[in-house]
Amino acid sequence: MSASSYSKQGAVAVITLDNPPVNGLGFELRSAVMAGLDQALADAAVSALVLIGAGKGFSAGADIREFNTPKAGAEPTLRSLIRAIEESSKPVIAAIHGVAMGGGLELALACHHRVVLRGAQIALPEVKLGLLPGTGGTQRLPRLVGVESALNMIVSGASVPSEQLGRTALFSALLEGDLLQGAVAFAGKLRPEMPRRLVRDIPIEYPNADGFFQFARNVVGPASKGYPAPLKCIEAVAAAVYKPFEEGLRFERELFLQLMQSSESKALRHAFLAERAASKIPGLSENTPTRPIHRAAVIGAGTMGSGIAMCFANAGIPVTILEVKQEALDKGIATIRRNYEGSAKKRKLSAAQVEERMGLIRPTLSYADVAQADIVIEAVFEDMSVKLGVFKKLDEVMKPGAILATNTSTLDLNQIARSTRRPQDVVGTHFFSPANVMKLLELVRGSATQDDVLATVMELSKKLKKAGVVSGVCDGFIGNRMLDRYLRQAILMLEEGALPQQVDSALEEWGMAMGPFRMLDLAGNDVGWYIRKRHYVEKPEMKRSVIADRICELGRFGQKTSAGWYRYQSGKRDAIPDPVVEELIAAYRKEIGVAPRRLSDEEIVERCIFALVNEGAKILEEGIALRASDIDLVYLAGYGFPAFRGGPMFYADTVGLYGVVRSMKRFAANSRGDPEFWKPAPLLARLAADGKSFN
Ligand SMILES: NC(=O)c1ccc[n+]([C@@H]2O[C@H](COP(=O)([O-])OP(=O)(O)OC[C@H]3O[C@@H](n4cnc5c(N)ncnc54)[C@H](O)[C@@H]3O)[C@@H](O)[C@H]2O)c1
Repeated sequence: MSASSYSKQGAVAVITLDNPPVNGLGFELRSAVMAGLDQALADAAVSALVLIGAGKGFSAGADIREFNTPKAGAEPTLRSLIRAIEESSKPVIAAIHGVAMGGGLELALACHHRVVLRGAQIALPEVKLGLLPGTGGTQRLPRLVGVESALNMIVSGASVPSEQLGRTALFSALLEGDLLQGAVAFAGKLRPEMPRRLVRDIPIEYPNADGFFQFARNVVGPASKGYPAPLKCIEAVAAAVYKPFEEGLRFERELFLQLMQSSESKALRHAFLAERAASKIPGLSENTPTRPIHRAAVIGAGTMGSGIAMCFANAGIPVTILEVKQEALDKGIATIRRNYEGSAKKRKLSAAQVEERMGLIRPTLSYADVAQADIVIEAVFEDMSVKLGVFKKLDEVMKPGAILATNTSTLDLNQIARSTRRPQDVVGTHFFSPANVMKLLELVRGSATQDDVLATVMELSKKLKKAGVVSGVCDGFIGNRMLDRYLRQAILMLEEGALPQQVDSALEEWGMAMGPFRMLDLAGNDVGWYIRKRHYVEKPEMKRSVIADRICELGRFGQKTSAGWYRYQSGKRDAIPDPVVEELIAAYRKEIGVAPRRLSDEEIVERCIFALVNEGAKILEEGIALRASDIDLVYLAGYGFPAFRGGPMFYADTVGLYGVVRSMKRFAANSRGDPEFWKPAPLLARLAADGKSFN
């Protein structure tokens, strides 16, 4: 496969990058472009070359399929190609549409001219993977768009529409209509003998450089805690100002290689690949058919139902939302409107968009109005008998082939499926609260769920801009089953001597978006209490979370009751440590005869995170999760796990599984409570003994 094609239009050679889907700069493409360049240079009848992308854009940069393979570094590398283009005796014109990102933009920056269509997205997004543009981007872009604009683009990684850069030296022409025709006409006017200036030769004059870079460091440093790349981006751009070009290039390369080796970038690249891997379901091919989703319905307009309805409206899919009582329906619709109006106040939506989205949501009390939906998502109370009642009704009214989904967090999907006459159409779509915000969507595959149903909800997750992760059926699925272990450790540490604020701050300092107790107060302590009470009946031998139960017995359900593990001033979300809670904990320690000890932050973090890892290993071995990176994605997208640590399983790999198992043995020996808890999962023990890792 050549990945690019060569043709001639008069005296202009046209090299078309053709490596679907985004013209990633893989080895075959680089080789073919180099060959095209040589062919054009050898042809006396060619006076200029146009580089253009086939399909949706110019190029989105490196070919991610090549990551971690020898091909990534094989000659010709992008660096060699860029040098060859700069050295070309005939002018090379990059003709840009769609996207020019990362290495794709760096390739274009080395050309002698760039012409562009309106609406093309221009970006150097490497920082999002914990890197910086390593092939001249930090040295060339400031010479064309100015130091400040270039720095903003490189530090944020954000895309800028081409027309916004139209007045800069980045583009020689903003074209309309047929890009190829326009670019060939532009190229046809150039002659090899005409004087040409390479971007590298453009001087940078920036008298305020010292002050500006210091200001940038002051702003970016604190905002990028845990991430080294943004500050390094600033140093690389500064080198463009302070150093001769070649020296700047070398400096950029050095920083790039340092970042490539950083654990943060490795974690971010893992997260990036994890999201792509998650949509590949073993046993299902790209050809597995999907069912069209033109209309949706949601049953229940509570916290989750109203958020889920918003997800559909945001994606432009009409959705009907059903309740049993008018009052509940009105309340749900009012919540949705309030949310949209809040976004409009923050200027994230226009008033017209608010109305457009509200217009896509139809409230109803009648099942007849949902019968024609292509998918219906049940989000009523977490009570099996209520859910079975709803599914009975859905089974009666829904058109054949409709997907019947449940948002249950803990109940047995297979039981729900079996209660219908169409278990093959039943699937779990487990959204996270707030559903319109959180990116994670667990797709729960029942024992009878048909392949095309699973493929359809996976495709739907993308339309709803969610990270879809397949989970098998078990109590709590992937995320909440692991969370249960994490919270159990957090609460156990209170018995041993820690306080909620200490546990929270240790984990937040480590990088979790929110410590476990603040998170519980936000989600509502009654939710876990309700589930615990069921567990106490089902598994009477289970160790009870007495402190957590007592907090609930006092009616301290969290933010919604202005008191939980902390207290809250009305209308505010700041968690204030509460002596009542400290007394309650102290009294319980006395009751069970525990002398409190001081726990280090390190112990707190290790016990909570390794509790996740051990349960994750069980989930993996049982086949509940398809791969370790899916578990990581669940935690990154749904639980505020720090991206720079790559997810719990990836983090365990970086610590080394042998070390993880040793820590677990230490916890089992020293900590009171449940020694079984720290028995390493068989998979974990095996991998650790063999010196292997999860990912
Ligand atoms: N709240 C969360 O954080 C969260 C997260 C993920 C999943 N879930 C799951 O989502 C589901 C809904 O949870 P929630 O927090 O939105 O609950 P909620 O109590 O806020 O809302 C439930 C809604 O369902 C309505 N309802 C009850 N019976 C009904 C029926 N027979 N027909 C139609 N509507 C009915 C109620 O009037 C209420 O408005 C549960 O299964 C829960 O486990 C909740």
